[in-house]
Amino acid sequence: MPSSEPATPSAPGATSDPAPRVQIAPSVLPADFSRLGDEVAALEAAGVDLIQWDVMDGQFVPNLTFGPAVIAAARRHTTLPFEAHLMVYTPDVMAAEYVDAGCSRLIVHAEACTHLHRTLGNIRSLGATAAVALNPATPVTAIAHVLDLVDLVLVMTVNPGFGGQAYLASMEPKIREVRDLIERAGLAASVDVEVDGGIGPATIGAAAAAGANVLVAGSALYRDPDGLAHAVTELRATATAAFTR
Ligand code: DX5
Repeated sequence: MPSSEPATPSAPGATSDPAPRVQIAPSVLPADFSRLGDEVAALEAAGVDLIQWDVMDGQFVPNLTFGPAVIAAARRHTTLPFEAHLMVYTPDVMAAEYVDAGCSRLIVHAEACTHLHRTLGNIRSLGATAAVALNPATPVTAIAHVLDLVDLVLVMTVNPGFGGQAYLASMEPKIREVRDLIERAGLAASVDVEVDGGIGPATIGAAAAAGANVLVAGSALYRDPDGLAHAVTELRATATAAFTR
C-alpha cells in the first residue's frame, strides 16, 4: 500500500520518483487486550496510517499473541489497513487465516521461510500484499531477489518477541542499504522501508534519516503523557523532517 506525495523539487541528479510518504504504524502490543476494538478506534482517531498486529507463535519468538479471530473481532472497529507481522515458523500455514481476518498486508520473516520466493507469491495469490522482515543479524542479501514480490521491507531494530526494548542504532547502515537497494532498482514508488522496535521521539529521526518511511511504534505511543494523538503527531513530524531517500 505504498503511497507517495507529488514529486517535489529536489537536488540536481535526484531521482524523479515521488518521495515515499512517511507513515506511522502503531503496534497494538502495549494496548489493553481486553478492549482491542476501542483501542484500534482510538488509534485511528489519533491519526495513525495503518495498524500492525504483532503475531507471535511462541516458537519463532518466545511470546504468544494474536490469533486471526482476535484480529477479525477488531476489524469492524476501524477502517484503517491492518498488517500482520508474522513472527511465526509457519507463515504458509497461517497466511490465509490472517488475510480472511482482515489483514491486507502480511509480513513474513526471511529467517522462517525455506522458500521465501514461493511464500511471498502465495500471499499475493491470496489477495494481500506481501512484505518481508529481517532480524538484526540477517543480511540484506536475503531479500535482494524478492523485491519484485513485496511492497515493504521491514528492518527489525530489536530482536523480535517483546515490546519496550532498546533501539539498535547499529541497524541504521542496514536501513540505508535497503533504502539504497530499493532506490537503485527504481522501486521507491512501490516498496516501502519499515522499521520496528524501540522507535520513539529520540530514535525515529535517525531511522528516517537512514531511509525508513514506515515507522512502527508501540511503547512510545502509549507512554506519551499527552496522549496518543500527540505522540503520533510528534513522531510523524520528526520522521518527515528527517526522512532521506
Ligand atoms: C517486537 C515487536 C515490537 C513492537 C513495538 O517483536 O514487533 O517491536 O512491535 O515495540 P516498541 O515500539 O515498544 O519497541
